[in-house]
Amino acid sequence: MKQPFFKYIVLVSVALVTSFSCKDKSEEGTISDTNSAMNKTANLVLDLNDTGIKIQPTMYGIFFEDINFSADGGLYAELIKNRSFEFPDAKMGWKQPNSARPSLNGNSGFAKITNYVSPDGGNKKYSHTVVHNDENYQLINEGFRGIGLHGGKKYDLSVMIANNEGIENINFSLVDTTGTVIAETKFKPTSGDWKTYQAVLEPNRTEAKAQLEITFEGTGSVDMDMISLFPQDTWKGRKQGLRKDLVQLLDDLDPGFLRFPGGCIVEGRSLAQRYQWQKTVGPPIERELLINRWNNLFEHRPAHDYYQSFGLGFFEYFQLSEDLGAEPIPILGCGMACQFNTGELVPLENLDPYVQEALDLVEFANGSTQTAWGKLRAEMGHPEPFNMKYLGIGNEQWGPEYFERYKVFAKAISDKYPDIMLVSTPGPFPDGDMFEYGWEQLKKLDAALADEHYYRPPEWFKANANRYDSYDRNGTKVFAGEYAAHPKGVENGPLENNWDAALSEAAFMTGLERNADVVHLTAYAPLMAHEEGWQWAPDLIWFNNLEVYGTPNYYVQKLFSNNSGTDLLKITENGKPLIGQKELYVSAVKDENTNELIIKAVNTSPENLTVIVSSKGGALNGKGLIETLSHQDLSTTNSFEIPYNIGVSISNFEIIDGKMQIELLAQSFNIIKLKK
Ligand code: AHR
Repeated sequence: MKQPFFKYIVLVSVALVTSFSCKDKSEEGTISDTNSAMNKTANLVLDLNDTGIKIQPTMYGIFFEDINFSADGGLYAELIKNRSFEFPDAKMGWKQPNSARPSLNGNSGFAKITNYVSPDGGNKKYSHTVVHNDENYQLINEGFRGIGLHGGKKYDLSVMIANNEGIENINFSLVDTTGTVIAETKFKPTSGDWKTYQAVLEPNRTEAKAQLEITFEGTGSVDMDMISLFPQDTWKGRKQGLRKDLVQLLDDLDPGFLRFPGGCIVEGRSLAQRYQWQKTVGPPIERELLINRWNNLFEHRPAHDYYQSFGLGFFEYFQLSEDLGAEPIPILGCGMACQFNTGELVPLENLDPYVQEALDLVEFANGSTQTAWGKLRAEMGHPEPFNMKYLGIGNEQWGPEYFERYKVFAKAISDKYPDIMLVSTPGPFPDGDMFEYGWEQLKKLDAALADEHYYRPPEWFKANANRYDSYDRNGTKVFAGEYAAHPKGVENGPLENNWDAALSEAAFMTGLERNADVVHLTAYAPLMAHEEGWQWAPDLIWFNNLEVYGTPNYYVQKLFSNNSGTDLLKITENGKPLIGQKELYVSAVKDENTNELIIKAVNTSPENLTVIVSSKGGALNGKGLIETLSHQDLSTTNSFEIPYNIGVSISNFEIIDGKMQIELLAQSFNIIKLKK
C-alpha cells in the first residue's frame, strides 16, 4: 500500500501565494508594476497547444547498486553477516571471545571452518564447532555494524545443524551492547544429516547494535551452517525478504524503471570478479559469494567485510521492479572489467559465453516455462514472464574495445530478441574525448539509448539546464542513468546531500523534462547508503540499522516523479525557455490522466521571485495547489534527527483574470498544479 503522498512531510500550509484576490488591480496598478523591482518578476506564458511530445512513463526511475551496504546489510533484510561462513576469511563477522586460535581451547571451544566434500553450487563451507567447556565457549555474530532490532517485533531465526555428538542444546540469544539478553531460544539438535531448525524471536526492546550469541549445553561437537535472522515484517511480508522501510521509500517515488545491479559492480575490478547474474538465482544457499567491488576500492572508506551473498539476486530485482510498477532494466558486463581498475578484456573470439549470459537472461526474464531458464523462474515462484523490455550492455565503458564487443552483443540479441531495447554507454563522463567518441559510435550504430553519467558540482547542474536543447531530436535517445550534484566530493558523507545540491538538481531536471523528446529515462545515483557502511556520497536515501530518511535530493526526485505528467507543454518568457534567467528554471507538462497542468519552477536566487503566468492556446481558471521545497541555508541537510528538515509544504492559489501570480520563495523548488 502506498502511503498518502504527503504523509509526514506536509509542513504547515504557508501563505506562499499572492493571488489576485488579495490585490485590487485598480489600486495597485498593472501586473507588471505591482512589483517595484522588475528583475524580481518573471512574466511567463504557458502554451496550452499540443507539443506532440510525450513524457515517457520511464522518465523518472531508480538506479540500484550494491554500494554503501545497500544490499547485504541494507535492502536485503538478513541480519547475520557471513551467515554461511563463505567469506574468504571464513570467520569474519564472528567472534569467539573465550577462544584462541593457537590453542586447543580445552577450556572453551572452537569453530573449525570445514569444506563440504563435494560442494554443489555456492555453499562450500560450514562450521564444525567443538565444545570442550560449555560454560565458557561462545560464538558471536556482530551483524552488519550491529544487528538492528525493534522491540516487540518478530524475527525468524533459522539454522542448519548436522552431525551432533554430545551437544544437548544450542542456545541462541540476542544481546544488547551491555550483554543483556533481549530475546532467546534454544534448539535440541539431533544427530545425523543436515536439518533446518527454526524459531521466532521477539526482542523485549529496541536495540540498534545487538549481537547474536550462540552458546552450548553439553560438550562434544556439532556442525552449523546458514545461521540466519530476518525480521518477519519485510516488504510485502515475504519470508527472508527485503527491508520494508527502505522499499517503502522507493515505492513512494513511483519510479518508472528500476536499473540494477549497478554501476561498476557489474564489471568487477577483474573479469573473475564481475557480476554474473546466473549465479544469483536459484536457492539462496547455493548462490556463490563474491567480493564486492567497493570492498577495498576507496582507501578513505575501506569496507573489508563487504561481500555479495546475492540473497538479493536477479529474481528479487525483477520481483521488486514488478512490485514498484517499474520497468526492469538489468545492466550486464560486456567482456570488459572496470576500466578504472584492471580494464581486463575478453578476446573477441572468446566472447560467446558472455553473449550467452545475456541471451539466457532474456530467457530467464521472459521465456516460457518450457525453456530452461523460464523453468527456473517458475520454480522460484514466478511462472509469468517479467516482460523485460530493456537490457544494458556494459557500464561506463569507453574506447574502440567497447564498441567491438557491443556490436557482437547487439547482433546476437537483436537476432534472437528484436524487441529488446539495448542501453549502451558513451563512457563515464558527460564530456571530453571519450564521450564525443562514444556518441559518434552510438550514432553510427543507430543505438536506441545512450547511458550518460554525470557527477558534477551544483554549479554544473545549473549551467547545464540547457544541455539537451541542442541534441539531435531524431537519433539515439538519452538515458541519464546516473547523476548527482557533488558539493565537495564523496568524502563528505551525508553532508553532501545538502539543499544546494538538491536545488541545483531540480534546476537541471527542468531541462531534462523540457527535452523529453530526447531524454527518455533518468535516475539519481547512488540510491542508498548505510550511515556507517558507506563508500560514496551523496546518496538519495540514508539508513542505519533501524531508521531511514530521504535526503532533500530524494524529495526533489519524488516531486518530479510523482508529477511527471504525460505531455510536455511549452512555457517561456519573451519566447525563451527558462534556463536560469533571473535564476529561474521552469518546465511544464499536462497530465491527461489526472487532467492537470503542472509547472515545475525552481528559484535558485537568495531572494523571492514573483512569477506571473498567463496562457495561450487555452484559458487558465480555477484553483490550484503548490508543493514547495525550500530553505534559506543551502548547506542544510536532512538527518536521522530531523528527517523532514527539508520537506514539502503545501499552499493554494486561485486563477484571477486568467492568470496566476505566485511568489516563489528564495531558493525554492515548486510544483504548481492546476486542474484543467
Ligand atoms: O554510482 C556510483 C558509481 O559511479 C557507479 O558504480 C559507476 O557506474 C559510477 O562511476
